[in-house]
Parts: sequence; C-alpha cells; structure tokens
Amino acid sequence: MARVSASVYSSHTPAIGAALDLGKSTQDYWKPVFAGFDPSKAWLQQHTPDAIVLVYNDHATSFSLEMVPTFAIGTAERFEVADEGWGPRPVPPVFGHPELAAHIAQSVIQDDFDLTVVNRLDVDHGLTVPLSLMCGQPQAWPCPIIPFAVNVVLYPPPSGKRCYSLGKAIRKAIDSFDKNLNVQVWGTGGMSHQLQGPRAGLINTEWDNAFLDRLIADPEGLSAMPHIEYVREAGSEGIELVMWLIARGAMSDKAPKVVHRFYHVPASNTAVGHLILENQ
Ligand code: DHB
Ligand code: FE
Repeated sequence: MARVSASVYSSHTPAIGAALDLGKSTQDYWKPVFAGFDPSKAWLQQHTPDAIVLVYNDHATSFSLEMVPTFAIGTAERFEVADEGWGPRPVPPVFGHPELAAHIAQSVIQDDFDLTVVNRLDVDHGLTVPLSLMCGQPQAWPCPIIPFAVNVVLYPPPSGKRCYSLGKAIRKAIDSFDKNLNVQVWGTGGMSHQLQGPRAGLINTEWDNAFLDRLIADPEGLSAMPHIEYVREAGSEGIELVMWLIARGAMSDKAPKVVHRFYHVPASNTAVGHLILENQ
C-alpha cells in the first residue's frame, strides 16, 4: 500500500524564484535564503518519494477571480508553468500522477470534502518556488507531483480546522491506494507577510516561530486558531499558512522527527519559514 513518509513546509516568495532564474542566488541578500535549503536539497535527494502531493495556492493565475474553488486537485498528466505576466519561469513542467490523484479525489470527496477536480491547470510561483528551493535547477522535477490548490486569496479562506481534517482525509486516501508508493505531502506559502494597505511589509518573527513550534508539537491545538488571528498577527497574506495544516494533518498521529528547521528574514516582503518532518 502507499504511505506518507514525510512532509515539507516552505514559503513561496516569488522573488526567490526570480533570484534563482536570474543568477542572483549567490548575492549577499539571497545567499542565506538558499543556504537554509542546502540540507533540504541533500535530504530530498536521499529521500526522493514516488509522488508529492503539493498543497499550494494559486494567485488569481489559473483561477481568475471569476471562479475560485476552495480546494482543487490536479488530476492531469502534465501541468504547464504559468505565465504570471513576464513569461513562464524557466523551470521544468510538472508531471502529475493521474491514478493517485483520481484515487485521492474519490476517497476524499466520499469522505465529505468537496474537491474541485481540475484536468487543466497552469501552476504559478505558489507551486514552482518551493520546488526550486528544494530541488535547485534540475532538468526535470524528481518525481510526479499532484498540485492541490487552496483558496487563500478571495475571502473567505477555509478554516485551519478544516484544513487539518482534510490532511487526515488525504492521509487516509493515500493509505488506501493499492500500490507500494512512498508519498510526501508538502504545505507551502507563508510565513508572515502583508503585501497591501497601511500594514504592507508586516513581519512577525515571534509569532512565526511560535507557529513552527506548535505545528511540530501541537497541530491539533494550532488548527483551532481562527483565521482572523492569522490576518491580525501574520498579515493579510499570512493566511497562506493554513495550507501547512493540510500537510501536517497528513502525517501520522505520532510525534514526527524534525529533520530540518529554518527561518529567515528578509526575503522580499515575506518571512521565509521551512520545516521537514518525517514520520517515525
Ligand atoms: C510576495 C509573497 C507572496 O506570497 C506572493 O504571493 C507574492 C509576493 C512577496 O513577498 O513579495
Ligand atoms: Fe503568495
């Protein structure tokens, strides 16, 4: 049977992708950001899964504001890299896992979570930047990737509690897939940042680190945090962090092994946070 072996959490700041694509990753400003992911690249090479369920948010790129699903699963064989206004990033296309994705859709929908099934989806920085941070600049991504999109851009976002329960339903779906697959679930976005209004530039280091502590040790308690606290404490875009609870919910109920933890400011307008957790 398939199983979830580990989860990875990472910010998706688009300027990180641009820094890598434009050859600026060794500049003083960016060096510490990429250095924080050096152990992660080595870990992923040693622990390459058979598939990744990559929980991310689309930024009004593929889903225009005319139609915004709360949760959507990509079931296609291939996903193109989106043009976000200055041409697609020079990164490989994403190859999906239609069989596992269809199984997850079937299991999770029958478990009362209403997923939108998406057969065509161009993926934006929300998905490609975490891949770049974890993989560098490869010719191809290391394994099939199932994009799992969450609405955190158009009010109202889903609650932390619903995201955490959805993660558990995804774990159950993976556990019941009749093939011997090693699967990772990634949660992306965050950490604290606000891109708009009078509080633009907000970063809350203390709150972010408390979030990381609780994500590791008390995810159930953390899932009860109301969305307004994310917005108040971590900024209007800090709400992206609810997606991390989906990946955390997909982990076993036993305490995970913390393989790597990293936190860094500044990176554009966003606090970069990163965790790798393994199931014991
Ligand atoms: C930035 C961060 C984001 O999450 C995003 O989607 C766009 C921009 C930033 O920090 O610049
Ligand atoms: Fe974002």
